[in-house]
Amino acid sequence: MEQTCLYPTESHSDMPIVNVASVKKLSPFRYPGGKTWLVPTVRKWLKTLNPKPELFIEPFLGGGIISLTVANENLAKHIIMSELDDEVASVWSVLLYGNVDQLVQSILSFNMTVENVKERFSLSPTTPEEKAFQTILKNRVYHGGIMANGSGLIKNGENGKGIKSRWYPKTIIKRMRKISSLSFKLEFIEGDGFNLIDRYLDNENSVFFVDPPYTASTKNAGRRLYRHYQIEHEKLFQLFSNRAYPFMMTYDDSIEIRNLCDKYSMNYQFIPMKNTHNLKQQELIISNDLRWFP
Ligand SMILES: C[S@@+](CC[C@H](N)C(=O)[O-])C[C@H]1O[C@@H](n2cnc3c(N)ncnc32)[C@H](O)[C@@H]1O
Repeated sequence: MEQTCLYPTESHSDMPIVNVASVKKLSPFRYPGGKTWLVPTVRKWLKTLNPKPELFIEPFLGGGIISLTVANENLAKHIIMSELDDEVASVWSVLLYGNVDQLVQSILSFNMTVENVKERFSLSPTTPEEKAFQTILKNRVYHGGIMANGSGLIKNGENGKGIKSRWYPKTIIKRMRKISSLSFKLEFIEGDGFNLIDRYLDNENSVFFVDPPYTASTKNAGRRLYRHYQIEHEKLFQLFSNRAYPFMMTYDDSIEIRNLCDKYSMNYQFIPMKNTHNLKQQELIISNDLRWFP
């Protein structure tokens, strides 16, 4: 049953937690707040839409696993994505519009040591490809893939592998090549996601997937994860509450967000997931139509 004005305090879903190992990884990033666990749900939602959406729009792209899955599984004809963080954006821009071979070569030839990493980070990139390489490097050697200020290098890493513990050059390159091969249906714009929302909000051929930084609640988790974390959350609710066409928003489950759902008469459902500490928690899926939801 869809929820509107309820304030349940405990677990509200009997749904099994998605085993992320069963989801195809397509992103070259290990992204904080990444939605790999939501892939089966988004897939299910999109398959209920008839006809197939012309345009799938993701204004807050991050690591982009959802858009990449939509492209790879042909769940929409065309995908438009945006991201404000210029470092994250540099990777997407190079993969779709730049010299992918050069980026791949930098990854393959890099000798991963703490000294080499520090030396790399002391240089200012002079080309989009260098900037993209530095970003991928940061993402792989910083704790939890967190590239925001205050993050630091992995020390012990997995299995005592230290700085190398998340550096899988061949896997990263394979994913990059895959993205290149899908580039004919992917469009990326560096900039504020609200511009993309303004442009397509009233477009009947579009569906939106909206996953902003989680900074609306006192938990404020997004603040330490992203370089850009300040968002006009209420404006998002205002805009989407008036949208007549399909969309899905995701948020952490908090009183602040439930209040916004109530204020703008938006439906939500609970969905269980495991956080980075492997603890079960629930998040919210907000939409104008949740009849498909299990
Ligand atoms: C929760 S993360 C998205 C995670 C993504 N769904 C994934 O699976 O990897 C939110 C993203 O929004 C970006 N962001 C923050 N403010 C933005 C804005 N105004 N416009 C576009 N992107 C923004 C952040 O840099 C971050 O990458």
